[in-house]
Amino acid sequence: MSKKGAPETRSSSRRQFLKSAGLTGAVMAAGARSAWSQAANAESNPENLPPHVADWSKYPGQGVADRPYGKPSKFEAHVVRRDVEWLTATRQSSVNFTPWHELDGIITPNGLCFERHHGGAPDISPADHRLMIHGLVDKPLIFSMSDILRMPRVNRVFFLECAANSGMEWRGPQLNGCQFTHGMIHNVMYTGVPLKVVLNEVGLKPNAKWLLVEGGDAAGMNRSLPMEKALDDCLLAFKMNGEALRPEQGYPLRLVVPGWEGNIWVKWLRRIEVGDKPWLAREETSKYTDLMADGRARRFTFVMDAKSVITNPSPQAPLRFRGQNVLTGIAWSGRGAITRVDVTLDGGRNWREARIDGPVLERSVTRFYVDFDWQGEELLIQSRCHDSTGYLQPTKNELRAIRGVNSIYHNNGIQTWLVRANGETENVEIS
Ligand code: MTE
Ligand code: CO
Repeated sequence: MSKKGAPETRSSSRRQFLKSAGLTGAVMAAGARSAWSQAANAESNPENLPPHVADWSKYPGQGVADRPYGKPSKFEAHVVRRDVEWLTATRQSSVNFTPWHELDGIITPNGLCFERHHGGAPDISPADHRLMIHGLVDKPLIFSMSDILRMPRVNRVFFLECAANSGMEWRGPQLNGCQFTHGMIHNVMYTGVPLKVVLNEVGLKPNAKWLLVEGGDAAGMNRSLPMEKALDDCLLAFKMNGEALRPEQGYPLRLVVPGWEGNIWVKWLRRIEVGDKPWLAREETSKYTDLMADGRARRFTFVMDAKSVITNPSPQAPLRFRGQNVLTGIAWSGRGAITRVDVTLDGGRNWREARIDGPVLERSVTRFYVDFDWQGEELLIQSRCHDSTGYLQPTKNELRAIRGVNSIYHNNGIQTWLVRANGETENVEIS
């Protein structure tokens, strides 16, 4: 078993990440442990415990007018998105991460969905937002938000995973926490209009094969989307988890491309150009390739393969009690539904089938559990998932054997956490 990689390996991997992501000028921040699980570890106040009457039982609480828009309890203040300062050159063109170790079930609360944007997040007035569709169409049109809100809509739960999720981990364990190794994914229910409804309205020419989808942010993010996918299950979404999209997630309108890498889910969607081939020179796709060991690159790797991670225990959520414990995690596949998750506690010698609980949906996060007994022994824990195509999540070394270590993107290898006798948990790899 090799523990965390040697510092040289780590920094060269980091440089590689920054280089491939087109980013420079990063500085390594001190990895001081912050106060993430403070609330749960806080000392009890005996005055509030039986046989005393707790303070909050003696006086009325806050009234209904105190919270026109509700927020979590102050005791949950550590449950936040976090970024890694040295990862990107600026905080506008950057990323923050979903705190999966603090969540349960399958839905990510809107305020905790990781953000990735290349030019900062604008807050656009829906009254001023327009979606233009032109190119190889019978009738080019400009849609206002009120036009879109009067079209037939649907509700669908999907995960969005950035292709760079776990991108730092190609050369060895780098970041201590599933928030950082696996936090570039969120899973929400979208409400939106199927893209095919809008495309029907403009009418497609017979040679219409590709769309250029473009955002209204300062980055003007654009990607080429094949027509087949556009007509299959893509949505023009305006709501997530029932309420309007948050500005950082593309308010007032974003593209939803189920199962495909996050980059193509264009936010603040302002323009769709219909063409007969992809816009290779212009668009972001030229950057979103997977560099292989021999210098060749994989292109159009749109689909996110099956992947899973144990969120508890994990470095930010160590084990605290002996005896009964709950291990939990998430699994997802861009190719279909999760059919089964296996968990090992002893580095792969023995596997047991995890208990899946909650909705099992296609292209959505699925929640799994293992209820287990812990007597302070060291554990090497891993999860591996199977999807409805029969695919089994690979080990990191199986991935490296095919893809090398030059890539940033599409790392869906099995994650290992080492749980020490004192419950502290670390990102490691088993060789
Ligand atoms: N759309 C626009 N307009 N601008 C962007 O920078 N970033 C893309 C995609 N859509 C981006 C964008 C990337 S790389 C990802 S991973 C997802 O948005 C992130 O979506 P989220 O911020 O809702 O998590
Ligand atoms: Co991305």
